[in-house]
Amino acid sequence: MSSVIYPPGPRDWCWGMSILPRLKKDFIKFYADMQAEHGDIICMRIGPYHDYTFLHPDQVKELLVTQAKHFVRFEVPIRVMAQWNRNSVIIAEGDAWIRQRRMVQPAFHPRRFAGYAASMASMIEQQLDEWSRRIEPGKATELELNQSMTDLTLHIIGRTLFGVDLRDQSKEIGRAVSILSELAVKEFMATVNLPDWLPLEEKRQKKWSMKYLDGVVRGFIRDWRQKHEDRGDLLSMLLLAVDEEGDQGTLNDEQVRDEAMTLLLAGHDTTAAGMLWCFYNLSRFPDVLQRVRAEAQRVYGDRQPTHADVTQLDYTTRVVKESLRIFPPAIGTFTRRAIHEVQIGGYTLPKNSLCRPFIYATHHDPRWFPDPERFDPERFLPEQEATRPQFAYCPFGGGPRVCIGQHFAMMEMILATSLSARRFDMAVTPGQKPIELSQNLSLRPKGGLKIQLTKPAA
Ligand code: HEM
Repeated sequence: MSSVIYPPGPRDWCWGMSILPRLKKDFIKFYADMQAEHGDIICMRIGPYHDYTFLHPDQVKELLVTQAKHFVRFEVPIRVMAQWNRNSVIIAEGDAWIRQRRMVQPAFHPRRFAGYAASMASMIEQQLDEWSRRIEPGKATELELNQSMTDLTLHIIGRTLFGVDLRDQSKEIGRAVSILSELAVKEFMATVNLPDWLPLEEKRQKKWSMKYLDGVVRGFIRDWRQKHEDRGDLLSMLLLAVDEEGDQGTLNDEQVRDEAMTLLLAGHDTTAAGMLWCFYNLSRFPDVLQRVRAEAQRVYGDRQPTHADVTQLDYTTRVVKESLRIFPPAIGTFTRRAIHEVQIGGYTLPKNSLCRPFIYATHHDPRWFPDPERFDPERFLPEQEATRPQFAYCPFGGGPRVCIGQHFAMMEMILATSLSARRFDMAVTPGQKPIELSQNLSLRPKGGLKIQLTKPAA
């Protein structure tokens, strides 16, 4: 047994109890202060665990990629998420995870992207038509971005992945997801969670949200079973999938329900947050919007963009990447627990250590992104990217558990950014309060964010 040397970090008087309130109050400031004081590894004692946060890109790579096999996801937050995701790909470990990832992966195969691009572009256009109808000539219309981006992403994911129209249900789905995200963060952080049968308003809302979402997903499967046709969407694929590389088995309805629930939730909430920050940046920087519009006109003009066009939208892609850098929708990844003693960043971590990257801090580190609060899409020119360590930028995580939907989400955000800049001028609504970031599952502005849309002069 080797003797363990712990990296410097805050020491407290009661197993992390004095640290947690500071972390809950403002996690971004907490980690900025910790990094200034202790450097790239922040090691704390939380309850019975040694808890490590890694901020240097090389350490992030070790954790997510090179040493990934020495970790599982920490069971406490995973148990919270499993209440509604049950045993889907985002929850499972080991052989069960390998099989589930293999069954879901074909939905994200590059050959499906031409079809997804066509249906995404027409869903986005329908939504833009609806916003456009609200604009009176010479006047602006106001858009609350939290709800509008949820409506848009649900509309897209409903059609492309499940072959259904979710527009009538998007308010309730958005409400249920935001109740569960808020609750998830609360339950992760709580020392003790009260049982769900207690007659408390919070518990009533949690039960409503879980039951509502369960009903939505089971409805997709019921409708599909009645028609029983391969529509080429994800749901058809899951219901018809055979594990050809494995046991030749299929997924039963309960397993399809679990995977579909995860893809519905993981697939729309983070993307809605990412899209919200793209729209915010177009509204803050008219010159960026003009360049995105000029590129749209040059690449696809007045017709509907295709997947091949998306690959030509280089500047718009850089705008989306820079938005995800400044405002990464997933500020970290799930916490990992070491199943053996393991080496990271030159330290030996004992078995059962808890580890995570904090993507937000790495994305805002001036060593990799000089003047980090400045919005500058040119940071993502290939020659600039080549100067940075690989994991200085990782909005979708990395390694074996990298986001399965990253290319789907990127295409969706690029198309929405490009098509909306083609249609509208945008500005942040005057009098909008300074942005305060919320700490729910996806990074969003606290209390919402309003912008104004106008039609550009002909
Ligand atoms: C801007 C949008 C998105 C962001 C920022 C994002 C971010 C992430 C991150 C950071 C992880 C890794 C978590 C970890 O390692 O602990 C992840 C995993 C995952 N994401 Fe995404 N995601 C986005 C969109 C999507 C979409 C569109 C889908 C599906 C339609 C999706 C499905 C998943 C799934 C299923 C996993 C778990 C993969 C596994 O454990 O094998 N995500 N995502």
